[in-house]
Amino acid sequence: MNNFDFCSPTYFVFGKERETEAGRYVKKYGGNKVLIHYGGGSVVKSGLLDRVKKSLTEEGLSFIELGGVMPNPRSGLVYTGVELCKKEGVDFILAVGGGSVIDSAKAIAMGAVYDGDFWDFFSVKRPEKALPVGTILTIAAAGSEGSGDAVITKEEGMLKRGSGGDCLRPRFSILNPALTQSLPAYQTACGATDIMAHVFERYFTNTKEVEITDRLCEAVLLTMLKEVPRVIEDPNNYEARANIMWAGMVAHNNLVGVGREQDWNSHGLEHELSALYDCAHGAGLAVIFPAWMTYVLDHDVLRFAQMATRVFGCEMNFQNPKATALEGIWRLKKFFTSIGMPINFKELGAREEDIDYMVEKFGIGIGKTGGFVALDREAVTAIYHLAL
Ligand code: NZQ
Ligand code: ZN
Repeated sequence: MNNFDFCSPTYFVFGKERETEAGRYVKKYGGNKVLIHYGGGSVVKSGLLDRVKKSLTEEGLSFIELGGVMPNPRSGLVYTGVELCKKEGVDFILAVGGGSVIDSAKAIAMGAVYDGDFWDFFSVKRPEKALPVGTILTIAAAGSEGSGDAVITKEEGMLKRGSGGDCLRPRFSILNPALTQSLPAYQTACGATDIMAHVFERYFTNTKEVEITDRLCEAVLLTMLKEVPRVIEDPNNYEARANIMWAGMVAHNNLVGVGREQDWNSHGLEHELSALYDCAHGAGLAVIFPAWMTYVLDHDVLRFAQMATRVFGCEMNFQNPKATALEGIWRLKKFFTSIGMPINFKELGAREEDIDYMVEKFGIGIGKTGGFVALDREAVTAIYHLAL
């Protein structure tokens, strides 16, 4: 196991109706003037926004609102939010929604305490400080409620890029699984795929002797295989929703990834898909992951066979471990299909003729990425072709 630092200071507030305590937690974490940030309207329709505002009012907090965050959040609204925070003296941002809203809130939080362009933190700088952010999560997916990451798309050139730093970890996150019951099945499945993808990015590692994090990763994956079909069948299954919601946090606050080298190339490959086609991040990952796994399989067949046996219940073929590994990838694809995910370009609506453009935008030039298997242009091109 590698040396590591791990700081995950977010205070989690989990369970039914916990959003009614939002005001108390904003106050506890020093907020006086709050920006409530939300998306395209699901929180208005469900009445959640009204409940949150009531809770802030009861605590005597003043607030302003900024809605309209799109999935794959854009820089344009971040600039608006930064200006608003500076003009109104906002000292706390409360994100009410999914990963897109939370990431937009984090980007505003960085920009509000910075004199330059917030995009610097997505291109040339790491953030050292930001306004405090709290979240009320409405979809189990990105894990942004516990992570120090944010992903924003810049309209010029549709560049989808990430930023990261511990100052971006939310001060508190309120997780009420019942809030996710209004999600359409497709969106639930996209979120579940993203959760599983966050584990895959960490599971495929070159670091040896990491049994504890291997086993934690496998626990999250096994939970997803059990619980996701239950919520697809019955969207109101609170207990299954609860397990998925906590799995989403555990998968991405890095508890399951400490002390081991991680990959993250598949996320980079996917971000080009969602930047170009504006597809859901999870749907793009369902297309990329099986292709990536097939491409890198020979690098460590036994690691793939381990996942196949421990997670997908395959029987180990000791004469031919590669057959076991391939069976595991096949079962993963079958699982994605069973929950309504696309597993190739055609099903996603992506086009072969765009591959060269995406490889160009992926931006490695003649260099290589890092990770489990370092990828060059040729490899990136080959993986996109395997996903056709
Ligand atoms: O905008 P509204 O009206 O709220 O609708 C949203 C949106 O259309 C809807 N939705 C959310 N909760 C709902 C609901 N509809 C009905 N009932 C509810 N309870 O779902 C749609 C998708 O929401 P979004 O926030 O985009 O989903 P998600 O949480 O999957 O976030 C995706 C974004 O997170 C980034 C992705 O790249 C993508 O931009 N990621 C962020 C990460 C991070 N910060 O750590 C890591 C991830 O790997 C990921 O890259
Ligand atoms: Zn993701």
